[in-house]
Amino acid sequence: MATAELVTRVWIEPGCIVCDACENAAPTVFHVTDDTCVIRPDALNAEFTRPLTAEIKEAAEECPVDVIKFEVVMGEAPAATATPAAAKEEKAAAKADADEPATAAVKKAPHKPAAAAKESGKAAAKSPEKAPTVSVAGEPDPAIQALLRAATSRGGMAVIGKTDAESGPTAKMWEKAPASELPPDARQAKVLKASGETKDGVTRRGVLTGSALGIGWLAFGGASVVSAVAFQRFMMPNVLEEPDPRVRIGKLEVYAAMPPGEVNNDHKPDGFWIIRLEDRIAALNIICTHLGCIPNWLANDRKFKCPCHGSGFRQAGINFEGPAPRPLERFRIEVVDGFVVVDKSKKYQYEKGQWESAESFVEV
Ligand code: FES
Repeated sequence: MATAELVTRVWIEPGCIVCDACENAAPTVFHVTDDTCVIRPDALNAEFTRPLTAEIKEAAEECPVDVIKFEVVMGEAPAATATPAAAKEEKAAAKADADEPATAAVKKAPHKPAAAAKESGKAAAKSPEKAPTVSVAGEPDPAIQALLRAATSRGGMAVIGKTDAESGPTAKMWEKAPASELPPDARQAKVLKASGETKDGVTRRGVLTGSALGIGWLAFGGASVVSAVAFQRFMMPNVLEEPDPRVRIGKLEVYAAMPPGEVNNDHKPDGFWIIRLEDRIAALNIICTHLGCIPNWLANDRKFKCPCHGSGFRQAGINFEGPAPRPLERFRIEVVDGFVVVDKSKKYQYEKGQWESAESFVEV
């Protein structure tokens, strides 16, 4: 009795590309679905697989991705099949019996010879990133079909490339075609391109409009601030800030050294002259008592002469000619820390006897 290897267990490892090679070789053992290949329930029994050892080995050999695995034991060799042709017919009959009626009614696409399929399948498994050459017309290539099913069954994506001639109008053709003849997306792209709008929706007109709005708002803000300040000034009391009426003019020794009868013009811009009398100094107001003009000190004539109407005043301020009705006025004067200080807020009039006030002069 001859012995031989007998298959006692067969299984399929992950990686099936659904090429039908195994089912063609052993239809009673393998069943190829739309997504993968499974072992038929009867073939899960060692008693069933032993007589089919040759077919299972053939299926494993023809599998392009080598996912069919099996275990063998040494045992009594089964009786040989009469002829290869008869074996093929038996396989076909067995497959027809094994398939369900609905499945059997659906004819699968013709396949390449198993060897060719194996070669192309292995090549694809080694370099899956390479896109196969595909013809979009005519009979589909079984190997390509198997590869596409394998890719899509695992969640992948398969793409069949086309030439420009096959893929219809190109982008340049769409640019030349009228918008009314284009599909909606191409028409929108053409309109956006013509209007100058970018994919982000930013246009030249939009930028200019935004700039104009920004300038407008800036001007509005500026005008609002100016208006608020003007309103505040309008609501506030209209108070004039006058300069400090007290003027510190210098050390007392300077003015004490003046000869009697002399006039110091240095503080005429401040509104007064410093006059040196016999035993004192005084601050004489420069405003003419007629109509408010400002007289000038004429040293040669020893008098103040008003240029407006000709009024004349002696060096002490007494009026003696012209329309001036009364003498010039004097300001309060004092010495603070050795410095002479004139206070223009307080005036002293000769006709009222105020020149005798101690605050209207400083003794020297
Ligand atoms: Fe001085 Fe008339 S204002 S004389």
